[in-house]
Amino acid sequence: MRPSDKTEDQMRVLVVGSGGREHALIKKIKESPKVDYIACCPGNGGIAYDAECFNVGATDIDGVVELAKTISADFVVVAPDDPLVMGMVDALNAEGFKTFGPNKAAAIIEGSKVFSKNLMLKYGIPTAEYKVFDNPADVIGYIKEKGEFPTVIKADGLALGKGVIIPETLEDAVSGVKEIMEDKIFGASGNNVVVEEFLTGPEVSVLAFTDGKCVRPMVSSMDHKRALDGDKGLNTGGMGTVSPNPYYTEEVAKECMEKIFIPTIEAMNKEGRTFKGCLYFGLMITPKGPKVIEYNCRFGDPETQVVLPRLKTDIIEIFEAINNETLSALEIEWDERACTCVIMASGGYPKSYPKGLEITGLTNGNLDGVTVYHAGTKLENGKLLTSGGRVLGVTALGNTLEEALEKSYEGVSKIHFENAHFRTDIGKRALEALK
Ligand code: AMP
Ligand code: GLY
Repeated sequence: MRPSDKTEDQMRVLVVGSGGREHALIKKIKESPKVDYIACCPGNGGIAYDAECFNVGATDIDGVVELAKTISADFVVVAPDDPLVMGMVDALNAEGFKTFGPNKAAAIIEGSKVFSKNLMLKYGIPTAEYKVFDNPADVIGYIKEKGEFPTVIKADGLALGKGVIIPETLEDAVSGVKEIMEDKIFGASGNNVVVEEFLTGPEVSVLAFTDGKCVRPMVSSMDHKRALDGDKGLNTGGMGTVSPNPYYTEEVAKECMEKIFIPTIEAMNKEGRTFKGCLYFGLMITPKGPKVIEYNCRFGDPETQVVLPRLKTDIIEIFEAINNETLSALEIEWDERACTCVIMASGGYPKSYPKGLEITGLTNGNLDGVTVYHAGTKLENGKLLTSGGRVLGVTALGNTLEEALEKSYEGVSKIHFENAHFRTDIGKRALEALK
């Protein structure tokens, strides 16, 4: 599958990114009869079994454009938030490449929380009440005056999913605001902060395909963001997911479509920021109805790992329809089965953790009975080693949620690396909701 083998009607796809989400995208793209070559940059140890990996960083815009030229890519999928917010899609389009992912103007929906909150306010899209601040003294003054805890403080810009703090006390709020706005632990992302009302209710993740004209929500999912069982411990990128999310009933879905999904697409159009790609709606089903907690301008991780295995339609057809703005004419089909993903992380994650530990139990990155999406692995001298916080996503389809979970956990029990950490209660809340 070298570049020189290219024939007229075969597509060559480049995927930008290196995590479990990218691995799930690549495995789905591989199913398309239209595709005969997949490259990934930078990729990882497991992705290397499914795509040719190139050592170009995911935020290296010039490098990615060059690579797309070198391999004669017909389509480039930009998966992570940073390159999207930086304008990688614009740079690729300027060179004539077809892409999947929003341009810079639209990616701001994730790139700036101040932007997204103001958008929701302006267009009446339900979200938590909020105020924006540009200096720490005003934030603390406001929080003191309100005197309501817990409260929610969010850094304006990208912060690896860690830019949200939910202090229970004034002291915690003071130290959190200091870290974000003065110590700048998230850099310029903390120049402005949003303080918002604390909402309650189950959370639902809905990824949606959109070409800017119509919006097609995918099947729902539920993330498990905290590091430890019982939703204890620090916030992480996500320790596991299940799909469907039982809290996302047909009634809720209808309300979200009318009050959130369509209004968001229309609002972006009215702002001259038409969004094309995958828009991620992080929702909370509050006693007053569904509200938006956050938007992401990309597929979720690890939501993608449980949503895409359920997609029956050729994903390349969807990408092309979005490019051609003909998504409304495309029927998108889903597998009725449930899907679950249990993340195996390095001991210590999301704080510091060792790298380079040998992973055993897999054959060519795989294991019978489950799909193992690689997030933080590398191949070295034929050995598979850990190389990140989240290492593997052990994923299974099942006729029921229970069956899928059983398979995922059976897979987990067969895979080993020193100090592997995983939650033992992925899907527990979903199962309780189904009772
Ligand atoms: P975010 O990065 O915006 O998704 O926030 C991370 C997590 O913080 C979310 O998944 C929620 O669990 C929680 N969170 C964010 N905003 C609020 C809010 N307004 N009320 C309650 N919890 C929130
Ligand atoms: N799993 C949460 C996210 O992708 O932002």
